Amino acid sequence: MSTNETAAPAAQSERIAQHRRYLMCRPQHFTVSYSINPWMEPSRPTDTDVALRQWQTLYDTYLALGHEVELIDPLEGLPDMVYTANGGFLIDGIAYGAKFRFAERAAEGPAFMEWFRDNGYTVAEPAEVNEGEGDFLLVGDTILAGTGFRSTGDSHREVGEVFGKEVVSLTLTDPRFYHLDTAISVLDPVQGPSTGSGAGGVERANIAYLPSAFDEEGRGILAERYPDAIQVDDADGAVFGLNSASDGRNVLISPRAKGFEAQLRERGYNPVLIDLSELLLGGGGIKCCTLELRGGTR
Ligand code: ARG
Repeated sequence: MSTNETAAPAAQSERIAQHRRYLMCRPQHFTVSYSINPWMEPSRPTDTDVALRQWQTLYDTYLALGHEVELIDPLEGLPDMVYTANGGFLIDGIAYGAKFRFAERAAEGPAFMEWFRDNGYTVAEPAEVNEGEGDFLLVGDTILAGTGFRSTGDSHREVGEVFGKEVVSLTLTDPRFYHLDTAISVLDPVQGPSTGSGAGGVERANIAYLPSAFDEEGRGILAERYPDAIQVDDADGAVFGLNSASDGRNVLISPRAKGFEAQLRERGYNPVLIDLSELLLGGGGIKCCTLELRGGTR
């Protein structure tokens, strides 16, 4: 972990870290035995011990930052279960379950729903294909929802019905960025009141995003709603720089996303560099390994 406290600009003291509760899954069975995204090459060897060590650093960093991390037991035969972001989407004690696009991950849906139930969440069983927080991001009181590769447009309607919130659909067009959380990073999910929702509303909560991952309509929506967003360049996007986790102050990012790191520093965030190169062989990064638990009994 490298927090670079000494290089911090003065503005950083204004950013306040918010407490987070996350769900993670140890990559005990991690390997790449099938390919459901362009990053996965089953012929290329993976090293589960390296994956475990890198994952442990992420886990330890969350704890060191004062966050809580719950664990779900890894199941044999489900090598992608480490990417807990896809297991569901949780707000205020309600868990909207995942229904995976590909058969290889289908069994993860019920496994996560069981964990949510056992841990005090009311589960909304999904009728539509959706991959949880991989494609749904809560920004202020709005749900940004991705489609194009995994979650369907019908799941956007369903997630809106489950939570009673505004849903903004965004279409992803580059197969390398197949989940919304590979192209958008939520920097300040709750800080600052929203000054209006609905069409044309301007949100105070801020994001970073990769414009080239979206179709023209999506780029237009993002530019209009988030005029202060950090627009990340293609080189940083290509190393999964956007697949990051923020508590409003500390932003955990890939050490390879150099430009994004500088942009974050300029804005007064504290970039924390975490290398998950082994897990990138499965097409996942920091955010993919992190599911936010909002509400619930504990
Ligand atoms: N191998 C996994 C898949 O293709 C990676 C999931 C990454 N998760 C994410 N939230 N982007 O489904």
